[in-house]
Amino acid sequence: MIGKLFDLQPKPVEKARVLELGCASGGNLLPQAIHYPEASFTGIDLSLVEIKEAERAKQALGLENVTLHCESLSKIDETWGKFDYIICHGVYSWVNKKTQEKILNICRDNLSKEGLAFVSYNALPGWNITRMLREMMFYHTRYIDDPQEKVTQAKGLLRVLSDTVAGQKSYYADLLQTECQFIENASDIYLLHDHLAEHNNPCYFYQFMDLATSHGLQYVGETQLSLMYLANMPSVFINTFQSLTNDVLRLEQYMDFATNRRFRQTLLTHKEATVNRRVGPERLASFYLSAYVVPKQPLAKVNLWDEEPLYFDLPLQQVKQVAVKIPEIKTLLYILSENPYHSYRCEELIKLVAEKLKTEIEEAKKVIMTHVMDLILRGFLNLTPEVLRPSAEQVCPCASKLVRYQVQELKQTWVTNNRHEVVPIDAFLKLVLQLIDGTRELEQLADLIMLRIEQEDFQLLCDGEPLEDKEEQRDEVNRLVEESILKARRLDLLE
Ligand SMILES: C[S@@+](CC[C@H](N)C(=O)[O-])C[C@H]1O[C@@H](n2cnc3c(N)ncnc32)[C@H](O)[C@@H]1O
Repeated sequence: MIGKLFDLQPKPVEKARVLELGCASGGNLLPQAIHYPEASFTGIDLSLVEIKEAERAKQALGLENVTLHCESLSKIDETWGKFDYIICHGVYSWVNKKTQEKILNICRDNLSKEGLAFVSYNALPGWNITRMLREMMFYHTRYIDDPQEKVTQAKGLLRVLSDTVAGQKSYYADLLQTECQFIENASDIYLLHDHLAEHNNPCYFYQFMDLATSHGLQYVGETQLSLMYLANMPSVFINTFQSLTNDVLRLEQYMDFATNRRFRQTLLTHKEATVNRRVGPERLASFYLSAYVVPKQPLAKVNLWDEEPLYFDLPLQQVKQVAVKIPEIKTLLYILSENPYHSYRCEELIKLVAEKLKTEIEEAKKVIMTHVMDLILRGFLNLTPEVLRPSAEQVCPCASKLVRYQVQELKQTWVTNNRHEVVPIDAFLKLVLQLIDGTRELEQLADLIMLRIEQEDFQLLCDGEPLEDKEEQRDEVNRLVEESILKARRLDLLE
């Protein structure tokens, strides 16, 4: 999407060759392979356990467009051919310098002419603070081999340190408590892989780019557009650094200094390609727009022409609220808020806005086109290369093949939706997702869940207490089944 927006001509992903370096159990690769059956996906990972798990999922999902290799990425050479997209997520910072160089060599030698490489890594200065905690946890757990015990002990140490400085008014106490809180909430897997991994070599953006440039690659951008947009920074920063807008690499480095950035997801391409970051609304014609915004007031209670600002919450953004004065933009956000999992062509939205405001299409277009790019770059509107439509209501709902595999075979509390997003699920939704395979109506589903409760395979809780009364149980199950199906449809978990 970013490549296309910046005027590159990457191969449409629907027919592309994709390579993932360090694919682990295929958490990234397999959902994409399902979504793009005509594209081909190759994954490589050193770990036999991970590749076996990925193979098992590949077989269960009947995927014929995936090839998995259990070996070191250092084995990749020109015989592997060229790939249109190369993904290296969660690997670069956790390998030695030689392997880092090999990753960048692959991104050059095995990338097609218009191809794009994605490399994520821990960034400085943000990781300096995290590194301090890593070193303490590392010291504390240096003689422990068992991974679970390592995590328990590491978290235990941080709790003690955090409690020790509680109530102290010092920079160190604040810092320690904030970081400890972050780690306390992190999953064990994350902590083991990230903070407690043997190698963890964060780097400054400029260092990463110096190395990438010396390997014949150039910077395209970050996957999150809003993080590259200077206007999202405070005015003192903008006034000082806006003269650098032609030197994106330096500007990005100063942004990292100001935001204490700790992670980057960088897109690279061949140095010969022409990257055009001057994006105007004319580029929008081939994209779709969507948004996850929640209006503070219901549409029925507002006058869209009113000069007073209206407020919209942005639950997934860093900026949590936006105030809007322009009637056309208020209307646009109301339309998008009605269904966050629905994307529209810009032209389509302009028509809907004009209809709602009873104004001329050309008028609405003029205003929307003036502001739409800013809304996108600020992260208020999402740009997608494909149309997003939640599945239609079904009498016998059916969870997607991947979701069914994830809830039946894997012990995890999240699933991957049809747009490749990770969606956390609660116990009831998990049970419903296990049972919806396109053969049961809602009442039959509720019957089955009641049976599970009777057989004590599932416990229905109300305010943390088991619900014992049979009639109350049935009412609650009916309500929860309906709610879960609606949720599953809205979260795009259904076929
Ligand atoms: C955190 S996991 C990456 C997960 C995956 N990319 C994803 O996003 O779901 C890092 C993986 O890199 C693999 N790895 C590390 N060094 C490697 C090497 N030299 N060659 C191939 N795989 C490697 C590890 O075995 C591990 O499975």
